[in-house]
Amino acid sequence: MPQETLYIALEMERDAFDNKALKALESLDQTKLTLCADLTREKLADDPTIIMIDDRPEEIDTVSRVRTLKRKFSGAEVFVVSTDQRPQHIVNLMKSGVSEYLGNPPDIHELITAIEEIRIKRANAGQVVQGTTYSFVGSKGGLGSTVLAVNAAVSLAAKSRQSVLLCDMSLQSGDASVLLDVPAGRTIVDLSRNIHRFDVSLFRGAVTRHKAGIDFLAAPPDPEDSSDVNADHAAQIFDLSNKLYEHVVVDCPAMSLDPCTLTALQASDRIFIVTDLSVTAVRNASRYRDLIEKIGFDPSRIEFVINRYIKGSALSIEEVESTLKKKIFWLFPNDFINVVSSINRGTPLVNFQPGAVLSKNINEFVDKMQNPSACGNYRGLKGTFGKAI
Ligand SMILES: Nc1ncnc2c1ncn2[C@@H]1O[C@H](COP(=O)(O)OP(=O)(O)O)[C@@H](O)[C@H]1O
Ligand SMILES: [Mg+2]
Repeated sequence: MPQETLYIALEMERDAFDNKALKALESLDQTKLTLCADLTREKLADDPTIIMIDDRPEEIDTVSRVRTLKRKFSGAEVFVVSTDQRPQHIVNLMKSGVSEYLGNPPDIHELITAIEEIRIKRANAGQVVQGTTYSFVGSKGGLGSTVLAVNAAVSLAAKSRQSVLLCDMSLQSGDASVLLDVPAGRTIVDLSRNIHRFDVSLFRGAVTRHKAGIDFLAAPPDPEDSSDVNADHAAQIFDLSNKLYEHVVVDCPAMSLDPCTLTALQASDRIFIVTDLSVTAVRNASRYRDLIEKIGFDPSRIEFVINRYIKGSALSIEEVESTLKKKIFWLFPNDFINVVSSINRGTPLVNFQPGAVLSKNINEFVDKMQNPSACGNYRGLKGTFGKAI
């Protein structure tokens, strides 16, 4: 995501500010850091986006200092670092217009998150670059939409080294958390129930950071709770996700036309309808594509992928393509043993068995998913003479 430069001005003595925090600020991309003794007197090359001051109650009244700074730099956000954690003091400072009140030394993660939130806030008001959203939807339950969404998300994060959100919109079953071994905790329902104060920090609070390098927005463990999530909530969630993440991967319930799923599909740059080589699944896939196209979905965004591909299945690829009137985008091989052991282990296959044929295949799929034209006709498997199937 191209980013606007943030100008951070630190109005404090060098040794008053934690060295580690200073290093963390210096290492941020698209950020210019200036240290000054007195912002109201010094001339700065650029107006600061963020002003950080320390709290020195014995020397100056921080509340009036904040007010003065806010008057002079009306576009700036003020952060205060302080050892004083008395609630009334914090409230007074927040009332004077402080955006963040941090401990001293500040928690590095909290500091960086606060800065990134300002960046996003500013991006929202001005120029916004949209992330890319990919959805997986089965033409029947049990075809592997969740396995593919989870592994594609993890592979995408590892390959691109960019931010990836996996969103479990399979609200009734919520299997992705099992594949990722994420204990019941924060879910999308926390967003729906607090939608009146929906913002970056609420969103971040509902998301689970996973060691596989992705952020994960879980479905509720209790299917009854899913009725709390409506299409309007989903729209807000996808709108913000696209601003916060370079990639969003969505696991949708099979054949679903419910308003939340349609909102997820609406937000998707590419929709992968997952089928296998059985007559019923292919017929469903065709019907589902027809239905969503009728609603107005752009056919060029819809692709078919075949999971659990085995040579010599009931239908040939050619027969499937003639039913679907479209080329198959990708073939994922059948690998029951590895898939099941990765699910039992709670580790996505691409991490659990990176050398497995299916893992390599998913990594290649992720390349094509991002850039189909660069990958030509190859769609995951080679025939006996090394030719693409
Ligand atoms: N490529 C594959 N090879 C073998 N088995 C698979 C494959 N993909 C998925 N499965 C099996 O299918 C089951 C259902 O997958 P899941 O992703 O939960 O389906 P869905 O989300 O479409 O209902 C998994 O438990 C796994 O055993
Ligand atoms: Mg599923």
